[in-house]
Amino acid sequence: MAKTNTPINLNEFESLAKSLLDKPAYDYYSSGANDEITLLENLQAYKRIRLYPRILVDVENRDMSTTVLGTKISMPIMIAPTAFHKLACAGGELSTAKAAYNNQTIMVLSSLSTTSPEDVAASTDASLWFQLYIYKDRELTKSVIQRVEQLGYKALCITVDAPLLGRREKDVHNRFSLPDDMTIATVGDYLEKEMAESARNSSLNVYFASLLDQSVTWKDVEWIRSISNLPIILKGVHRRDDAIKAAEYGFDGIIVSNHGARQLDTVPATIDLLPAISESVGDKLEIFLDGGIRRGTDVIKAMALGAKAVLIGRPILWGLAVNGSEGASKVLQLIREETDLAMALCGISNISEITRDIIH
Ligand code: GLV
Repeated sequence: MAKTNTPINLNEFESLAKSLLDKPAYDYYSSGANDEITLLENLQAYKRIRLYPRILVDVENRDMSTTVLGTKISMPIMIAPTAFHKLACAGGELSTAKAAYNNQTIMVLSSLSTTSPEDVAASTDASLWFQLYIYKDRELTKSVIQRVEQLGYKALCITVDAPLLGRREKDVHNRFSLPDDMTIATVGDYLEKEMAESARNSSLNVYFASLLDQSVTWKDVEWIRSISNLPIILKGVHRRDDAIKAAEYGFDGIIVSNHGARQLDTVPATIDLLPAISESVGDKLEIFLDGGIRRGTDVIKAMALGAKAVLIGRPILWGLAVNGSEGASKVLQLIREETDLAMALCGISNISEITRDIIH
């Protein structure tokens, strides 16, 4: 029988996307920092973890829906913020939002979006969160926060692992830049031209170095809370002491994330950081995780170790590259089906039953 080329898992989506994307775009999306030790480790760490299924459990009716920061989603899998979706498909972030809506999950819109938060919000009834960088220009930061709040975005994910951008060497070789017909639309008219020019003419690193505030501390994140009613999630937490601090400051959630291994190379896989963090603050705030989730069994492992839900980044881009919104939807559908099957085979009918003993 002839083999079909239709991808049947997230890794096959990546292979097909690689054959379809321009090399600089594929390299930008797929790269990690420096030697890409952490990039590999994010994937490998899941392969070392073993599952211990329960037997003779009635799993005929399974439910993987959950509630994150008060929003009900159909599965514990959300769309991570990633940059420049128009590099993957013409519909860009609008296609991603459609996939989120079709799968009843949350999309986190990146600050480095090629579509404005206004256009994304107007296009969809999906629940949206917004990923925020703290700019040197606090008025700009404030105006972005106020805009997304008014637009109905339901939470702010503040990236806290990027005072500067990590060095992705393929981007350096490719002199990666945005094509002329794309802009960083997220910040609206204000500075858009200047930022887009700097991203085009030099590099993303220059954009970051010129706009992002390298002096940001806990006080600045607190300032954001003082000017916004939105729940605040810190994205990029690695350490137990920082997780405890986030809880003490009263933030609503954290994302255990190493920015898709794109910042500091040789940090551990996020799944390996999760147990210590969830033991310390699991009852104080909501813990999410991203980095390396490619299989339904990975989702189960992350939840068993304390994540309320996970986020996937690159696989969504591969879906967009293969077939726009339908491709991204298919990626979400595949990982949903894998998670559902893994639940059944673990003897779990409801995600509240995904407990630590599934691993130990
Ligand atoms: C931006 O956040 C990037 O990782 O390129």
